[in-house]
Amino acid sequence: MATIVGGIGTTHVPSIGNPIAEKKQNDPYWRPFFKGFDYVHYWLARTKPDVAVVFYNDHGLNFFLDKLPTFAVGASAEYRSEDEGWGIPVSRPVPGDADMSWHLINTLVADEFDVTMCQDMLIDHAVTIPMALMWPSAASSDRPWPVKIVPVEINTVQHPLPSMARCLKLGRSIGRALESYPRDLRVAIVGTGGLSHQLDGTRAGFVNKEFDALCLDKIVAEPEALTRCSIHELVELSGSQGVEFLNWMAMRGALTGQVSELNRNYHIPVSNTAAATVVYDNQAAVERKAA
Ligand code: DHB
Ligand code: FE
Repeated sequence: MATIVGGIGTTHVPSIGNPIAEKKQNDPYWRPFFKGFDYVHYWLARTKPDVAVVFYNDHGLNFFLDKLPTFAVGASAEYRSEDEGWGIPVSRPVPGDADMSWHLINTLVADEFDVTMCQDMLIDHAVTIPMALMWPSAASSDRPWPVKIVPVEINTVQHPLPSMARCLKLGRSIGRALESYPRDLRVAIVGTGGLSHQLDGTRAGFVNKEFDALCLDKIVAEPEALTRCSIHELVELSGSQGVEFLNWMAMRGALTGQVSELNRNYHIPVSNTAAATVVYDNQAAVERKAA
């Protein structure tokens, strides 16, 4: 049976690719952001996940407005990236766990989540930047990645968007699927994007520290409370791209055990975005009994 070791929430701002390429993580502008990853690296070294299920939103690299699924799951042995035009290096491919993907897809469809299945899927900065932040040495070398991924894509781009409740349920369905996965693998759940930001229109540059703090407080023990927020309220409160918080809701849903916050870093701004980095512990029922 797979073990869900915990969750990571992280922004995916593309310009983070520049200080990584130029090794400027300790520059005064970047240090407050990158220091949030010291704990992430410690936790990953301790928990040693074999697979990362990554909830993210594509920004037009793999899906465009002409054909845009609400939920899509990658089912490939490898995911490539391509130049998206941000002026950052194109990341190396990341291996996928296609067997786990198909197990998740089967369970999701049985659970009435009729997802788009992608045996060929390009990953954009919403996966590659978090990968480089979580596993910097693998990202910048030819050494094998320490994890395989299962990318789960959520539409946060073209309205109507799925609700907070729906994304929490999607995550829960995936959590249950992992619990019934027969291979003995350790799985980390990742949610990328957010927190508050708006890149366009008259509110470009909008961030909302108070609302972000509320989301970070509630998502741990009371994620249901956040589902009262409609998508339009979410746009109002977190900005038109702050809706990427839907990926975080799905990540939280997949943590099926007892969840606690191990670490939180919050820094304004990284580019136009309020950047939050969190690590959540997930204690499964059996582990709790054994403890
Ligand atoms: C920025 C943030 C994003 O989430 C994104 O996808 C692209 C750019 C930014 O703040 O620059
Ligand atoms: Fe984004």
